[in-house]
Amino acid sequence: MLSFAEKNVLLGVCGSIAAYKACELASRLREQGVRVDCALTASARHLVQPAALEAITGTPVITDMFPLITNPEQGHIAVAQRVHLCLVAPATANILAKAACGIADDWLSTTLLATRAPLLFAPAMNTNMYTHPATQANISVLLERGAAFVGPASGRLACGTEGAGRLADIPDILDAAFCALHQDKDFSGKRILITSGPNHEPIDPVRFIGNRSSGKMGRALALEALCRGAEVGMITGPAQVSPPYGVKAIQVNTADEMYDAVLSCMNEYDVIIGAAAVADYKIERPETSKIKRGTDHILLRLTPNRDIIAAVADAKRPEQRVVGFAAESEDLLLKAAHKLRQKRLDMIIANTIGGEDCAIGADHADAYILVPGQEPEKLEHAEKSRLAKIIFDRLLALD
Ligand code: CTP
Repeated sequence: MLSFAEKNVLLGVCGSIAAYKACELASRLREQGVRVDCALTASARHLVQPAALEAITGTPVITDMFPLITNPEQGHIAVAQRVHLCLVAPATANILAKAACGIADDWLSTTLLATRAPLLFAPAMNTNMYTHPATQANISVLLERGAAFVGPASGRLACGTEGAGRLADIPDILDAAFCALHQDKDFSGKRILITSGPNHEPIDPVRFIGNRSSGKMGRALALEALCRGAEVGMITGPAQVSPPYGVKAIQVNTADEMYDAVLSCMNEYDVIIGAAAVADYKIERPETSKIKRGTDHILLRLTPNRDIIAAVADAKRPEQRVVGFAAESEDLLLKAAHKLRQKRLDMIIANTIGGEDCAIGADHADAYILVPGQEPEKLEHAEKSRLAKIIFDRLLALD
């Protein structure tokens, strides 16, 4: 789960049809513990009622400059100074143009000028408006000044056309907001590749052998790397969770597909992290047609898969770093230390399998971080997001 606890976010809502989605966005931000100040532009007020957003945020919604003279808590200067992030969602062509030119003619545009908090825009508009050179030039200006953008997504638009202009999906906006809130970009210029999730090894066209990996650890690592300014690639098996917004993700099924994908791109990366629960075995000869039900026993003959992270460690350049995970039922530290040496890794994270704090599929993990020549670091019941943060802190210290 993302943690925005104790952050103040200004949610600026403009007059796009997607304005109705602001209620869902505000609600998801509140769920994460964010204090949300919400401002509606004059056009947005035709599309969404302040009362709905007030009920969700628990804070009066800002709709006008001047009544706030008697409520200085929500004056543009007070909010501009208080917030950690200004998120404009949906952002219309109009607000992008005003922000790019420094026009301050209503509460939201004035606040965007007065704040020094990071700006994140989630555009939503008709495709022609979005691709118009004027809008694109305004976006370039804002990007150059350090503003961040999420979306727009492509698809069917409210005006009946198809194309770019849909508001990004809410989970993508939350990922982008989380990254924008993180100001320490200590992995900027670094490229990180992460394997994630389980593998599915086919038995026949409808059946497979799989495992319980959710992909949550890989996702937490990818999000942490993005927040810290890295470029992130993910090679992911069929996981329960999607890669975070902004990751270059390749979806695979089998361990062989994962092996080929990782080995073919590993040269482009500075750090390769093997968080996938790679299938150790595959069916030697998967059936090409569905196996029919019968009364006899059937025997599935398994053959070993190649070890991806060990192959990466063998082929790596000296300056590349390779990190693995170890999932063990017993003798955790001993076996993890053995894997660290045997696979010639720079770091391994050891997790216990079984028990309450079983790492596979859960949000928390009991873990040890092992680095050659250093004492193991123990982390008890660590949220995967906290574990990801500590892994990247330790990676920095390796150089
Ligand atoms: N790994 C891999 N390719 C494999 C098996 C594992 O890249 N074919 C990686 C995992 O992503 C993890 C590390 O190796 O980073 C250790 O995985 P783990 O399942 O704990 O150990 P195995 O090497 O599979 O050995 P065992 O199952 O016997 O414990």
